[in-house]
Amino acid sequence: MQNPDLTGKVVVITGASSGFGRGAALRFAEAGAAVVLAARRGEVLRDLARECAGQAFAVPTDVSKRADVERLMQAALLRFGRVDVWINNAGVGALGHFERIPLDDHMQVICTDLMGTVCGSHVAYCYFLEQGSGIVINIASGSARTAFRTTARTWPRSMASWVSARR
Ligand SMILES: NC(=O)c1ccc[n+]([C@@H]2O[C@H](COP(=O)([O-])OP(=O)(O)OC[C@H]3O[C@@H](n4cnc5c(N)ncnc54)[C@H](OP(=O)(O)O)[C@@H]3O)[C@@H](O)[C@H]2O)c1
Repeated sequence: MQNPDLTGKVVVITGASSGFGRGAALRFAEAGAAVVLAARRGEVLRDLARECAGQAFAVPTDVSKRADVERLMQAALLRFGRVDVWINNAGVGALGHFERIPLDDHMQVICTDLMGTVCGSHVAYCYFLEQGSGIVINIASGSARTAFRTTARTWPRSMASWVSARR
């Protein structure tokens, strides 16, 4: 499939240091978008920024920390003057028998997957309302809607959602 021309668009991607996020960053950059790469591992992000075609920069971010997410938006605006797409992709999973997974691990999943998404969506959506346009994309898993009898598969983001804040 041919990439659309996204020249002039600014895309923020959380969880960009590996997996889906890394792949999406490379594809968006290839399509001409400026990409803002967020995850905890700054050095990995900086390597990826060098790999991306066009404009890309790394903002070390822990999405479970509200201040980090707010700083991510500020950094993107300072660098590119606008944001058009915000992708909440950062996520961790805890797989196994529910009772054998330490509570701290369950908490980390909730703080990252759920609260990180709520926080990112809030920061982005408030900005998009002011800007008059913008798209929030939340990456989720089918496991969020499936009950498993003996194992916990904690992917709490309820479902993928697409929110347009066009006025
Ligand atoms: N893989 C699958 O089969 C699958 C299926 C359905 C849905 N998903 C969803 O797709 C998304 C990406 O999955 P993936 O397989 O690509 O995962 P992955 O390769 O493990 O990547 C997860 C990314 O999230 C980042 N991350 C984790 N905790 C973070 C935090 N507190 N703050 C900021 N970044 C954080 C990691 O970077 P750092 O460690 O550098 O922070 C990493 O870049 C996840 O939300 C997952 O729930 C995956």
